[in-house]
Amino acid sequence: MNESSSRVAVVTGGAMGIGAAIAARLAQDGWRVVVADRNVDGTAPPGGRYVVCDVGDEASVAALARSLDTGEQRLDALICNAGFMIRKPIADLALAEWSSVLTTNLTSTFLLVRATEALLRAANGAVVTIASSRARMSEPNTESYSASKGGLVALTHALAVSLGPEVRVNCISPGWIATKGPQPAAEEHAFHPAGRVGRSEDIAALAAFLVGPASGFITGAEFVVDGGVTRKMIYPE
Ligand code: NAI
Repeated sequence: MNESSSRVAVVTGGAMGIGAAIAARLAQDGWRVVVADRNVDGTAPPGGRYVVCDVGDEASVAALARSLDTGEQRLDALICNAGFMIRKPIADLALAEWSSVLTTNLTSTFLLVRATEALLRAANGAVVTIASSRARMSEPNTESYSASKGGLVALTHALAVSLGPEVRVNCISPGWIATKGPQPAAEEHAFHPAGRVGRSEDIAALAAFLVGPASGFITGAEFVVDGGVTRKMIYPE
């Protein structure tokens, strides 16, 4: 491991949204951040590096890992954040669409961890996966997304057991985090026991804690960060 450089983190899907906030937070905290995203127009925070990478593609992930082997020569944190949703009635959902969601949201973490295991072990590193409260609850027509996120929660504890004690692996399951699109209405904020919809920075703060030394006894855990919504009992009026 290259001891002279700052700690190195890879943040997937870091071109925008929650991933960009995690990348910015880690950079602020002194990390060198490698952003890996399939968007060709993205940027990394100051001091970092941007890599165009499709995290569901084996060759693309292998190229990312090679660039770490020859470039930074260390990896202290891997944030598996890239993900997307297809909303479609199951009757209309093509197998290729189902597979694309599973590949980006779930298989990618297998590919990324397999490709970087040696660097992570050498650094006594940490992995954080970004699942969703939809791993446990659903709206209609979201089967592929919910299945992928449920799988990611399970993959997280399996990896924690296999990679410990050198590498800790934890999961954040966000609820509604306002990133793009119209801002939530007042009643949507009020619906949350915390009094507001989430912000990307809420997730970034926990991710920063989970890759830092203060969380050394935490592994295989899932943290639901949803303003209390999944704890709120709802019956018809
Ligand atoms: P976003 O759509 O704003 O950003 C996702 C980023 O991932 C984009 O930069 C996109 O280019 C990248 N990406 C997508 N597929 C990729 C691939 N195959 N390879 C590389 N990069 C890829 O999404 P957002 O809202 O920031 O969500 C981030 C993560 O958080 C996702 O995994 C999402 O499922 C999860 N999440 C988000 C919630 C929300 O309310 N925003 C709630 C619960 C979970």
